[in-house]
Amino acid sequence: MKDALTATDPRETAFEEHVSADGQVEPKDWMPEAYRKTLVRQISQHAHSEIIGMQPEGNWITRAPSLRRKVALIAKVQDEAGHGLYLYSAAETLGASRDDMVDALLEGKAKYSSIFNYPTPTWADIGAIGWLVDGAAITNQVPLCRTSYGPYARAMVRVCKEESFHQRQGYEIMLQLARGTDAQKKMAQEALNRWWWPCLMMFGPPDHDSPNSARSMAWKIKRHSNDELRQRFVDQTVPQAEFLGLSIPDPDLKWNEERGHYDFGTPPWDEFMEVVKGNGPCNRQRLNARRKAHDDGAWVREAALAHAEKRRERAEAASQAA
Ligand SMILES: [Fe+2]
Ligand SMILES: [Fe+2]
Repeated sequence: MKDALTATDPRETAFEEHVSADGQVEPKDWMPEAYRKTLVRQISQHAHSEIIGMQPEGNWITRAPSLRRKVALIAKVQDEAGHGLYLYSAAETLGASRDDMVDALLEGKAKYSSIFNYPTPTWADIGAIGWLVDGAAITNQVPLCRTSYGPYARAMVRVCKEESFHQRQGYEIMLQLARGTDAQKKMAQEALNRWWWPCLMMFGPPDHDSPNSARSMAWKIKRHSNDELRQRFVDQTVPQAEFLGLSIPDPDLKWNEERGHYDFGTPPWDEFMEVVKGNGPCNRQRLNARRKAHDDGAWVREAALAHAEKRRERAEAASQAA
């Protein structure tokens, strides 16, 4: 017998069972509205992060210290544009419109990863971004290759392969600087000092302050908590810093034999909240650059629409003549 007050939509029950048995969800499958909304928000924020993330490094393309470095950096920045495009397409499979997503970004309503609101004053910042920012992105994204929404999971497989290349090119820049002159080593250390804490904050607030996490975990959108992923990143990165001969700017960092993990200090969450609110060092600059790029590209969108319209008219005329 069914109690009218507790009865849930049978489609919802079937969905929950399917997802908890690690089944994947495809665009035409029935899904709860809240699941769809959560995914549109997460995937579009991820897409915006890739697109805005081109800027801090794009800043160094013309100043990269050799042709080889320039080629690698152009390829990397171009990959990030590609990641943005796969992700906008994945969000479109959930019924989101590309224009709405882009408008939300340009109007400052949509969020993107706060890490891209920090400046890149030296060449070593390009090394630190590849090593640490792309490294943190990989830690976040490898579990997303098994996320419950099929198109997102499949996009992540390809994205992660490219991110590994990004991480290596960054680490190699750091290695060369760390083995270079005293001035180069100092430049590498200062870049590590700038990026360390913002990178730890890329995993989001501590679990006890992360209200949406539990539901995303139940839906298998998210597979590990923010704190688990942050710990994983620290454990992987400390030996890499040691190999470079650089020191991580955290006096509380210490191997904990009992836990089998590194203990580490508390990131500056006040700073994080300020950056999220739009008051980071480069928030305004990043959005203004994006708005300008969008305006400068208006003629391309207009031309593409006019071309599509012409083709449609030609096809119509041909089918009438036949
Ligand atoms: Fe990317
Ligand atoms: Fe990347």
